[in-house]
Amino acid sequence: MILSIESSCDDSSLALTRISDFSLLFCEKLSQDAAHTAFGGVVPELASRIHAKNLPQILKNFSPDFLRKNIRAVAVTTEPGLSISLLEGVLMAKTIAQFLSVPLITVNHLKGHVFSLFIGQEAIFPCEILLVSGGHTQILRARSENSMQIVAETLDDSFGESFDKVAKMLHLPYPGGPAIQDLTAKFQKNSTKSRENPIIFPIPLQGKKTLAFSFSGLKNAVRLAVQNHTLDENFIAKISHGFQFAACSHVLQRLQIFFETMSEARYFGVVGGAAANLFLRDEILKLCEKFNKIALFCDLKFCSDNAAMIGRAAVWKFHAGQFCDIKNAEISPKSSPHEFEI
Ligand code: KG4
Ligand code: ZN
Repeated sequence: MILSIESSCDDSSLALTRISDFSLLFCEKLSQDAAHTAFGGVVPELASRIHAKNLPQILKNFSPDFLRKNIRAVAVTTEPGLSISLLEGVLMAKTIAQFLSVPLITVNHLKGHVFSLFIGQEAIFPCEILLVSGGHTQILRARSENSMQIVAETLDDSFGESFDKVAKMLHLPYPGGPAIQDLTAKFQKNSTKSRENPIIFPIPLQGKKTLAFSFSGLKNAVRLAVQNHTLDENFIAKISHGFQFAACSHVLQRLQIFFETMSEARYFGVVGGAAANLFLRDEILKLCEKFNKIALFCDLKFCSDNAAMIGRAAVWKFHAGQFCDIKNAEISPKSSPHEFEI
């Protein structure tokens, strides 16, 4: 088995993956949402301190004897992420690997999200992927386990981050994605009367052929609409609905351009914390059908950060013998170029 650790942002998670058939034997995650909600976003110093408490707590599920008998390698996210959060996971991984005398495998977090599509199953390559999370909004081209390129990126905020920032303006809890999605769904079920005069926001980069994402203009449009307005229930629901529609439409328009101009693969995957957005999933499925693509959606329980995806990504590195010397294991807040070609 591989014991994997994820601590790049605000989720402390450990998993066990069977090397022979990729099956997931254990995955536990302690979320820190409640601790960060008062601040409307992740506070790195707080996240790191909570990891230092949570990771050992999850590890208590296993006796040293069990670990000695079963673990063949320890995998850990080393990049990209919040440096002091990454450090907590790496420190734990080094200690366990040394204690068990097993190799250490370093995993790029974005690759981990790609492998979230293949937990418990064979990977499918080539495959193109939309990664939408709190830290990233990218289209990736994955030719193989070892060759992934970023095809398009955000110019400013990420998709998930824009939900978090709009939620903060509306005094909704962190993370903003689920709250805004729920309010939008409620708004759509409202009486015709309360759905009158919906708020419509401009769709970023509409009409432009640029293959990039941008959410800061939309965020500012929401800021202006909210300014000096009483935040009653109906107004909050209207803003949520208008914002989610514009943000998702922007992503869909960029994907349409990608499918028309650059896409090569038959398979199209959707991953990352914000891949849990049901409206986005439905619309991407329709778009994939239109372009004769086979859509692969990350299981809802593995969209947000977790160690299962890190363990799954580590299996091929284990077979390829791509281990990292414990003394040389370094964290990097940004993806290093050898892991991701741009
Ligand atoms: O992948 P993830 O757990 O952490 C990062 O690596 O960033 O993603 C968390 C992000 C947050 O910004 C959260 O608001 C967003 O995913 N998110 C959503 C939804 N659920 C989570 N965004 C839109 N709609 C959702 N249903
Ligand atoms: Zn993530």
